Amino acid sequence: MPKYRRFADTSVSERILDSMFLITIGIAYLFAILNLYYTHQGRDGEEGLSVTDVMYAYYGSHNQTRLGAAINGPMASNLPNPAAKQTILDWIKEGATEEGFHAKVEPIMQDNCIACHSAESGLPVPSFESYASVVQLTKTDTGATIPALVRVSHIHLFGIAFILFFVGRLFLLCEMNIKIKRLYVALPFIFLLLDIASWFITKIIPEFAYVVIAAGGLVGTTFGLQIMICLYQMWLYKSNVEEE
Ligand code: HEC
Repeated sequence: MPKYRRFADTSVSERILDSMFLITIGIAYLFAILNLYYTHQGRDGEEGLSVTDVMYAYYGSHNQTRLGAAINGPMASNLPNPAAKQTILDWIKEGATEEGFHAKVEPIMQDNCIACHSAESGLPVPSFESYASVVQLTKTDTGATIPALVRVSHIHLFGIAFILFFVGRLFLLCEMNIKIKRLYVALPFIFLLLDIASWFITKIIPEFAYVVIAAGGLVGTTFGLQIMICLYQMWLYKSNVEEE
């Protein structure tokens, strides 16, 4: 019978190296979760991360434009009266034409918005000094674009495949039922592929946001458990390899 290497066969220095790697990867993963929270929370106008935020990220809010969402939400207080807000909303609805902009919208923005929304203000906000830059914000929000998703997908797949592979290699040194192990080494990869596929599907079917969240959560759970089982078997588990 071939003899496979297990944690019981590794030196203490190797186990220290492996442990430091796993702990650092675990912490990196927690930061990845925090980053995800800050990237997506509040998209729907409410504090905190929700399924709607994830839907908006990929599918978009469809019935809103960035300008409309802003003046209905966080920027409402910068407008002097509801009539001014309605003027801008009507202008968007009627097709956001250049003539309409100069006649009706530009004066409102000059008085109420330009102090912050100009190149001179130094704030990281879109400038409202030209029709071209304002009209950008009047397109229907259809979520992340396909090129943006392709970019994030390739970075994710390359990067995460490496991480899952190295953690999986260490997980092979654990002792357990062989059928469970064979299934378990594949699971994080399967959930990762499902997660990324569901980003694209959510662009068409917003309800797939639930699959995005479930698959993402399962990548984290299966991968986190691999790390914990490795650490446990390295330092606390009594091997029964010798008895076989
Ligand atoms: C006191 C400074 C200030 C004024 C005045 C102001 N804004 Fe803003 N605006 C901000 C800041 C800061 C942000 C970015 C943070 C945020 O989204 O809350 C922002 C964000 C926005 C966005 C979102 C841009 C995006 O990237 O989606 C829109 C649209 C907007 N403002 C419209 C307006 C309009 C219209 C007015 C005038 C009625 C206005 N703002 C007045 C400071 C200002």
